[in-house]
Order: sequence, then C-alpha cells, then structure tokens
Amino acid sequence: MAEVNLLARYPAAKRNIKARLVNKEENRRIAMRFGREYFDGPREQGYGGYRYDGRWIPIAEDIVKHFGLKRGDRVLDVGCGKGFLVKDLMKVCPGLEAFGLDISEYAVMNCEPEVVGRLHVGNVLRLPFPDRSFAAVISINTIHNLERDGCIVALREIERLAPGRGFVQVDAYRNEAERQAFEDWMLTARTYGKPADWVEILKEAGYTGDYYWTILEVDA
Ligand SMILES: C[S@@+](CC[C@H](N)C(=O)[O-])C[C@H]1O[C@@H](n2cnc3c(N)ncnc32)[C@H](O)[C@@H]1O
Repeated sequence: MAEVNLLARYPAAKRNIKARLVNKEENRRIAMRFGREYFDGPREQGYGGYRYDGRWIPIAEDIVKHFGLKRGDRVLDVGCGKGFLVKDLMKVCPGLEAFGLDISEYAVMNCEPEVVGRLHVGNVLRLPFPDRSFAAVISINTIHNLERDGCIVALREIERLAPGRGFVQVDAYRNEAERQAFEDWMLTARTYGKPADWVEILKEAGYTGDYYWTILEVDA
C-alpha cells in the first residue's frame, strides 16, 4: 500500500467557494442524485458542464506506467462518470481493455462515443465482476460519497477485483483552513478527514492498493 500522486498532472481548477454557500442544502440534495444537474447543470450543483477536453490524457499515461499496463490487460474505473479516463486509457495504451462503472445512469447514457458499451451502471458497494478479474482498478473522488461503513465495503470490493492493484483517491484536508474550505465547497462527500484518518480506513478494509488525496488548497 503506497501513497502515490497519479493526478499530479491534472490541471488546477478555479473555484468560487463563496457561490457554493448560497442555497447549499438544496444544491447538495440535488447533486447527490448524480443526475443531469450534477454533471451538466449550474456550477452550484456540481461540475457546471462535464465535458471532455483531454485533461485526463497525462493522468492516463501515468496510470498505465504506474501499473505497467499493456495491450490485452483489463482495467476498471469505478465512478467513471462519462468515461473520460476510460477513453484516454485506451488512447494512450492501444489494445488495453478499459471499462467503467458509475451509479449515474445519466453519465453512462451521455458517455463519450468511444466508450459506449464499456461503461456499466452500478454501485461500488457491489461490483458485478469476478474476483481478480482486472489488472488494475482505479477509483477517483468516488468512495468518499459513501458513509464510513460503505467506504470499507467499497475498498474491499476494489481489493477483491484487483488485489494490491488498486488506486483510490479521496477528499481530504490537512488543517483547519483546508477543512473549512472543503466543507464550504463540497456537495456530495459523506466521509472525509485527514490523510491519517483515511489510512486507518484503508487498513481496516484490508486494502493493499495505492491511494492519494484530493486537497482543496487555500492561500496561507
Ligand atoms: C466527483 S465524481 C468523479 C468522477 C470521475 N472519477 C472524475 O474524477 O472526474 C464522483 C462520481 O462517482 C459516482 N458515484 C457516486 N456514488 C457512487 C457509487 N456508490 N457507486 C459508483 N459510482 C458512484 C458519481 O456518479 C460520479 O460520477
């Protein structure tokens, strides 16, 4: 189990945190449905337009390199949204068999054309695939949307499909200022804490794959 930043080349986002404070509870309720509003509605309710722009290509390259993935290997992205990473994994590693799973029927129904038939509607709590069936399982900014007990189940599912070959990234904060900014900004997370809190959860689950944190950095 290792801490590794596979999203190091993901571009930094500009965020208007204050705008998220307006009508927060209602927006949170809507966002948690992971429907059209979350992906393609106003920024206050989610992504504010979840469109492919190639930003996942460098991350896909780093994932392929990290896991030594090659033609014919199967890789799964859990919480794949519209399949941007699935598409780019196949682009950077021709012949790789990349698949995705997401709870959002909206995302799967509005996926990138290149991944039609490769995305499944489903829940990370019960991944509909045999044990050890993937060369790697990736899950970025997804399992923190579950309660703590659910995170444990999800991590065990990921471990079951690809023992020691997972990569999970979750929301975290390192200090009070980051916690405040995170709570103001986030819409859908149910479990979050400091990296050490997450490491405890990973260990409790018996997860042996790799991991990293999404941290909303604030000015000192
Ligand atoms: C913050 S988005 C991340 C999407 C993508 N991984 C990315 O980084 O752009 C969280 C994703 O998790 C999905 N999701 C939420 N709960 C889930 C669950 N229980 N099982 C599977 N997917 C889930 C949502 O529909 C959404 O696509």
